[in-house]
Amino acid sequence: MTQQVRQKEVAMAKIGFIGMGNMGQAMLKGLEGVVDKADILFTDAHKEKARQIFHDTGVMFSESNAELASKCKYIVLAVKPVVYPTVLKNIADIVKPGHVVISLAPGISIEQISNRLGGDARIVRAMPNTPALVGMGMTGIAYNEKDFSQEEIADIDQIFGALGRFQKVDEKLISAVVCASGSSPAYVYMFIEALADSVVKYGMPRKQAYEFAAQAVMGSAKMVLETGAHPGKLKDDVCSPGGTTIAGVAALEQKGFRSAIFAATDACYEKAK
Ligand SMILES: NC(=O)c1ccc[n+]([C@@H]2O[C@H](COP(=O)([O-])OP(=O)(O)OC[C@H]3O[C@@H](n4cnc5c(N)ncnc54)[C@H](OP(=O)(O)O)[C@@H]3O)[C@@H](O)[C@H]2O)c1
Repeated sequence: MTQQVRQKEVAMAKIGFIGMGNMGQAMLKGLEGVVDKADILFTDAHKEKARQIFHDTGVMFSESNAELASKCKYIVLAVKPVVYPTVLKNIADIVKPGHVVISLAPGISIEQISNRLGGDARIVRAMPNTPALVGMGMTGIAYNEKDFSQEEIADIDQIFGALGRFQKVDEKLISAVVCASGSSPAYVYMFIEALADSVVKYGMPRKQAYEFAAQAVMGSAKMVLETGAHPGKLKDDVCSPGGTTIAGVAALEQKGFRSAIFAATDACYEKAK
């Protein structure tokens, strides 16, 4: 680790996670080696689970959400939206203007959270995804830059940079981020599973089929990100005239592959709102 990152670790105030489910654990894993364990705290609804996570990771947990809020500058709300009223009530008296509250929930605005916390709380809305667990996350972040110091902005960048890629977006785009990268890993897993099943049908051993399918997805994604080429052009490049790939593409078009994805995004967007 570079000296610069080390210095940053020491300077960084504590990060507290309220909720240690899928997303909390993915973020915790992503921050491993970037933020000192001693600078992270978490809570969970079930103490047995919290003790197990402490045992597995060495990261300490707090007895209550209020206690965690009193000890951490950055408070990450990693609970389901339905639990927000309870959690915001738990921490409302503790959160001061010096805190930065990071909300991961779809459908709950910065204004709504700020109002619940007394009006002057500073809120960051972030929409990460579970590939953060392997440092390959994608996060959309929305906040009002004028309310944050340069050091705080650097800390926020460091937290989400540790999880993979991130981009600042307008808050009105957060629901689109939910569709593009928050929920879409589930569709990609379905695609990998289906592709693997379809070649198991032709004799490929299952384990091998998952590796072939997953690597094809990862390689194709890297091609889009690293060449900057239009995905349509990259698709055309694979399709020799009269060849195998265009035959597969034609079958996908016939089965409504693209319109199925539009329908998934419409359903996801409606729910995210
Ligand atoms: N999963 C994703 O891919 C994803 C992607 C982007 C954003 N998000 C957002 O991230 C947030 C968390 O999602 P998730 O998938 O991590 O949910 P999750 O797996 O259900 O985790 C939520 C955690 O919060 C704990 N919890 C419940 N009530 C609590 C309370 N009052 N105080 C402290 N902890 C409490 C739960 O504990 P118990 O399980 O022990 O009850 C659980 O560990 C949600 O807003 C979600 O929309 C998730």
